[in-house]
Amino acid sequence: MSKKDQQQQRDLFESQRNFRLLVEGVSDYALYMLDPAGIITSWNIGGQRIKGYAPAEIIGQHFSCFYTEVDRANGKPLRALRIAREQGRYEEDGWRVRKDGTFFWASVVIDPIYEDGELVGFAKITRDITERREAQLKLERMHQQLAESQKFDALGQLTGGVAHDFNNLLMIVSGSLHTLKKAVGHDPRCLRALSAIEGATKRGASLTSQLLTFARRQSVNPQVVDVAERIDAMREVLDSGVGNVVSLQLDMDPGVWPVMVDVTEFETALVNLVINARDAMPGGGVITISARNEAPGEADTEYVAISVEDTGTGIAPDVLGKIFDPFFTTKPIGKGTGLGLSQVHGFAHQAGGTVKVASELGKGTKITILLPRKEAADAAEDVDAVETGGSGTVLLVEDNPDVAAVSTGLLEQLGYTVRRVASAEAALREIELDRIDLVFSDIVMPGKMDGLGLARHLKAVRPGLPILLTSGYSDSARNVRGDFPILRKPYEIHELSQAIAKLPR
Ligand SMILES: Nc1ncnc2c1ncn2[C@@H]1O[C@H](COP(=O)(O)OP(=O)(O)OP(=O)(O)O)[C@@H](O)[C@H]1O
Ligand SMILES: [Mg+2]
Repeated sequence: MSKKDQQQQRDLFESQRNFRLLVEGVSDYALYMLDPAGIITSWNIGGQRIKGYAPAEIIGQHFSCFYTEVDRANGKPLRALRIAREQGRYEEDGWRVRKDGTFFWASVVIDPIYEDGELVGFAKITRDITERREAQLKLERMHQQLAESQKFDALGQLTGGVAHDFNNLLMIVSGSLHTLKKAVGHDPRCLRALSAIEGATKRGASLTSQLLTFARRQSVNPQVVDVAERIDAMREVLDSGVGNVVSLQLDMDPGVWPVMVDVTEFETALVNLVINARDAMPGGGVITISARNEAPGEADTEYVAISVEDTGTGIAPDVLGKIFDPFFTTKPIGKGTGLGLSQVHGFAHQAGGTVKVASELGKGTKITILLPRKEAADAAEDVDAVETGGSGTVLLVEDNPDVAAVSTGLLEQLGYTVRRVASAEAALREIELDRIDLVFSDIVMPGKMDGLGLARHLKAVRPGLPILLTSGYSDSARNVRGDFPILRKPYEIHELSQAIAKLPR
């Protein structure tokens, strides 16, 4: 052998040794060889780290021991080798098993190796990408949640805007009815017409109210509520609502925590759920309303879970994602408007909670409202207002002239003298000039100061002056948070009278 040949031989040996050291030393990848039948013929430190076997334990074994039992039973290992042979490469992400029996999510590549045209074995590269996969799944879940909340935000903007305008119209219609009623006297045809208008207005008001709740723009009066007591009080109404073939059961855990909600909204949500349950059981069945405390999960808020469960048709998987959308209904025209669950959704979220659905086709549905626990404050005594005639001067702050005219009419019917101004600034001037006994102000108004700003200012400079706010909806109404009472538009004369009577003086 010439000197040159000897040198070449040494170089080759050196480079092979380097290569082996490299392969053996790579710890992030399992890099190893199989013979044509799948028996493991080499092993590296990465293989040991990822799969847990020492070289002596695994060399000579069949590589199918890395697969799950199900994959083995399905002949997946040999299929992988066949594909690598036929297509020149096999790639896959899937579950693999470690020596200790635990699973990991693997990224696998198998390459066939030929020498002089003959298959001598396979090179196998495996990476543990469990963490990457988990991160990916988490990201996907977050994306989905974001898309969901964006959808509800967009729908909320739209419906909220429409419903708000509608509410002002309804306010004018219902308010003018009182004036008309007085004028028509006893003509039965006119009275019938008026009562038809009244009925339609009420229905319109309840629809817009559901929409506003969905949009989370209903002005709310949250108060501390004993869930079990409320549900119990509604039992009779609910019982008569579900009809004869359906029976209603209550299943209240003792000691259910109080929650902070708007009572009217709460009752509407419960009715919506019970009516849905009834409609899902045309042939009869059982509705169970339950309430229990839910210990903290990952977040440390404590919840009260209120469920309405039925033994009805269940909800098809392709429908499930849409049931909270406004106007989504599977009921025939005239039967459902598709606003019931939208109201439930909006109510729960506005109260700081959420809604969960569990449903199985042919078995039934359980819808659960989760509301955050409220520490019981000293039970605020409920003043049962009496409808009495009022007296004194009311300062009405309202920018819409038609609404103002209606409100003035109602206040005058209640016996008040009314001064009307169109802005908070004008209100402040008026209060300096005249003797005012009560301020009744819209919340949303043009100008620098809105109704809430006005109320806060007056509370500071005229602490004794009673203030009642009103709103069809408003984002600012959410900020009021019980600082000032709010009367929800559209309101009727007795509601206005009660709200004034309840004002702290
Ligand atoms: N308990 C239930 N069982 C089976 N399907 C239900 C149940 N609750 C709701 N759904 C489905 O969800 C849809 C939407 O319900 P949602 O209460 O929002 O509207 P609706 O009941 O159709 O009409 P509305 O309540 O406005 O009168 C229903 O049409 C129905 O297909
Ligand atoms: Mg419904």
